[in-house]
Amino acid sequence: MEQALKNFFLFMAKNKTFNRLAKKYGLALGARRFVAGETLQDALGVFRELNDKGLMATVDHLGEFVLNEQEANEMAEHCIAALEGMAREKLDCNLSLKLTSMGLDISKELCLANMRRIMDVAQKLGIFVRIDMEDYAHLEDTLDIFKTLRQTYDNVGTVIQAYLYRSADDVEDLARLNSNLRLVKGAYKESPEVAYPDKRDVDENFKKLIRLQLENGCYAAVATHDEEIIEFTKQWVKENNIANDRFEFQMLYGIRSELQLRLVKEGYRVRVYVPYGHDWYGYFMRRLAERPANVAFVLKGMIKK
Ligand code: FDA
Repeated sequence: MEQALKNFFLFMAKNKTFNRLAKKYGLALGARRFVAGETLQDALGVFRELNDKGLMATVDHLGEFVLNEQEANEMAEHCIAALEGMAREKLDCNLSLKLTSMGLDISKELCLANMRRIMDVAQKLGIFVRIDMEDYAHLEDTLDIFKTLRQTYDNVGTVIQAYLYRSADDVEDLARLNSNLRLVKGAYKESPEVAYPDKRDVDENFKKLIRLQLENGCYAAVATHDEEIIEFTKQWVKENNIANDRFEFQMLYGIRSELQLRLVKEGYRVRVYVPYGHDWYGYFMRRLAERPANVAFVLKGMIKK
């Protein structure tokens, strides 16, 4: 049943008609729980609140199904406006983005050109940019573009998904560029040909990737709400004398807020991923897919904080 609901929400996330309707009618269905608002101003207010509590942030301007060059360029402009807003308001915040929203499905050249525009501004302002990882079909292109950008920019990183069989090799390969990686379980529906179907294998691989990344001397962003993985990381860094500034924990806005604050109190770096924008529907559906119980919680307005 849980798997069927998961598949249903992942299917709904890709539905273009619902996506269009959602944009038209604004934040609804309880999405406000996971999305900071529809405007940059909304998001900047949320970053301030998070920073005041000792939490860092990373902003994601939501955008799915970018279909033409103009839309991709507009998405890049949104990212640049977000960078300028964060710098102006002196917020402890960086940027996360998806290459499909920069035009990857239109052409790699367009995507790279948009990325260079963003990276130039980010470099000037001293702000880090994280390239989110999307589904398997986009993995090779995402890694290629990351590696190309990494040759010019120090302030760029990407994401590796523990559910993929190949990820340990990717972590090793990217260590040659001293890559700052966010490590996650993986949010998309992938075939057993490329991804572990069993959650226990994903969790074990996640731990392996954390170890590899830190053993290689690279910065790790451990992005999970899974307390077992978090406890593993705390224990492992302690045993291996890894300083707290060599890694951070990351969680999504609206999920496990108490745990985020507890980790800050314990002296860890914690960053909250804060999405905003009109295009909230696909993101919201993927969060429901991760935990279909959210549907009931969202409806009752009593999700675990
Ligand atoms: P898991 O799903 O096992 O959940 C562990 C516990 O966390 C649950 O029992 C529950 O208590 C809580 N929890 C998890 N998800 C919840 C939810 N939606 N609502 C309420 N509680 C929840 N993926 C990807 O493919 N590419 C990417 O670039 C990113 N980027 C990214 C950034 C950040 C900051 C985070 C935290 C996550 C991502 N992800 C991602 C998503 C990631 O791959 C994964 O789908 C989610 O983090 C859920 O997995 P957990 O590691 O939290 O564990």
